This record gives sequence, structure tokens and C-alpha cells, in this order.
Amino acid sequence: MRKSEGYPLPVLEIATKEDVPEIVDQMIAASSNNNLILQLRYPSPEHLAKMDIRMRKVFTSMIEAPDYIMLKAVDPETKVIAATAAWQFVHFKDAELASVTGRKQHADERLVMQPQVIIAAGLVLNDGTSDQDETGGPTIWDVIEEAYQKFIKAWMGSTKSIYLASLSTHPRFQRRGIGTALLTWGHELADKHGVPSFLVSTPFGHPLYEHLGWRDVERPLKLELQKWAPYASNGDMGWGTFKYYYMLRMPKNAIV
Ligand SMILES: CC(C)(COP(=O)(O)OP(=O)(O)OC[C@H]1O[C@@H](n2cnc3c(N)ncnc32)[C@H](O)[C@@H]1OP(=O)(O)O)[C@@H](O)C(=O)NCCC(=O)NCCS
Repeated sequence: MRKSEGYPLPVLEIATKEDVPEIVDQMIAASSNNNLILQLRYPSPEHLAKMDIRMRKVFTSMIEAPDYIMLKAVDPETKVIAATAAWQFVHFKDAELASVTGRKQHADERLVMQPQVIIAAGLVLNDGTSDQDETGGPTIWDVIEEAYQKFIKAWMGSTKSIYLASLSTHPRFQRRGIGTALLTWGHELADKHGVPSFLVSTPFGHPLYEHLGWRDVERPLKLELQKWAPYASNGDMGWGTFKYYYMLRMPKNAIV
């Protein structure tokens, strides 16, 4: 029996600005349990508090931007936001965007996501966090962003496509099929429009994406976390290798 059997199906809805504080809490809870990358990015409660404020700004402007949809999965019993997925519709025409997002717009009124942010595997990369490396060398964030830019340039370029910027399920609701439901929503749209989908994955999402037909299109980026964790300089202290995967899903009925 699949673990997800026996749980009520989540209700999928497009998130609104009012949902943002709850969404940020849900995302932080989903990632903070096991994501050493986030520990490096936000090593103290003060950093986390700043991240909370920044993420609220980023996701509010994402919800207003015409080419993004923040999809929320609501638990029907508790009405809690159990999981979210942020989908970006790249190079879609205005009319197509309006039909997907349900928002009316005119070309001259186009809203651009402010500030322009880069989100890969749910990590907001250029969020204003102080990234300075004391030695003047690249930081771990430079390395992650460079690999992301290379992937985007090589694979997405001017291709009409759908990009999964973020997918996360609150730990309390994981392994119930909610991540699958949020992905299936995007897969159906991609199939309808006959476009490929792209994402950058953490190790936590990778088995799920593979299971649902995504495949790696680049070698994963391997980060030896010990190198980047200043407080691990006296030994390994459990910091291992963290991988980012670069993935593609072709639409059904595509000629490959
Ligand atoms: C990845 C994530 C979104 C999955 O969400 P979820 O709602 O638990 O996903 P599902 O319940 O639909 O999982 C479906 C299948 O994926 C696989 N899967 C999910 N989590 C897994 C895990 N931790 N280990 C192994 N397989 C896993 C299983 O095959 C699972 O099916 P099963 O429960 O019947 O065995 C969730 O673990 C999460 O939020 N992780 C932290 C944030 C993150 O890294 N997100 C990915 C960014 S790219």
C-alpha cells in the first residue's frame, strides 16, 4: 500500500497575498529539518528572522507577477496550508498566461516580479543576504548561482517552458501524495501546452521527480559542505556532500 493511501486528498488552490505569512512558515518548516544548505545560509535566529521578512516580500511579488503561480495544497481537515509549489510560465503569451493564472492584464501594464529574484530548488539566491567572502573568492552562493545560470542558458534559453521554482511540503504532511498532486497540476498544464518543464532539485525532491518521469540533464553540482562551513574546520562534524540536480520533463506525446 502506498503511504499516501488513507489520507484525505489535499485541496489545490492558487495562493493569494493573504496566504504569504503562512506559506513562508510552511516553507521554512519544510526545509529546516534536514537542509544543511539553509543552515549555512541562515546560521542564527537573527538570520532566520531576516529571511522571513525577505521571503514575505519575494513571495508577495511572486503572487502578483503575471508569469508565476503559487499553488497551495490545503489540508481539508485542518484547513492548514500543507504544501506549496511555485510555477513560472516562461515565454508564454499574455493571453495564455491570463488563461492559466486567471488574471487579466495588458502588455503595457505588465508587472515584473520586484525585486527580480532567482529561485532554484526553493532557495532564493539573490535575496540581499550578505554574501561577501573575506578572501575575495567565490562564495558557495556564487557557485550555486553560476551552475543555475549555466543550466538556464543551456536548456531554457528562449524555449517556451514551465519552471518549478519551489516545491515543499510541511514535514507533518509529507509522504501523503501532496507533493505528487502539486507536480501533477503542473504536468497537466505542460502537456496541454506541449512544453517542457525544468527544475533544480535538492536531494530530498530528486527521488520524487525521477519517479514522476523527470530526468537529469546535467551532472549534479556536488558541494562539499565542510569546505563552506567555517565552524566545521576542525573536522567533518557531519557535513557531507550536498547535490543539486538539473532536471527536465518532456510533455506527453512529445516527439523525442
Ligand atoms: C520533496 C517533498 C516536496 C516531497 O513532498 P511529499 O508531499 O512528501 O511528496 P509525496 O508524498 O507526493 O511523495 C511521493 C513519493 O516520492 C517519494 N518520496 C518522497 N519523499 C521521499 C523521501 N524522503 N525519501 C524517499 N522517497 C521519497 C516516494 O516515492 C513517495 O511515495 P511513497 O510515499 O508512496 O513512498 C518534501 O519532502 C519536502 O518538502 N522536502 C523539503 C524541501 C525540498 O527539498 N523540496 C524539493 C525542492 S526541489
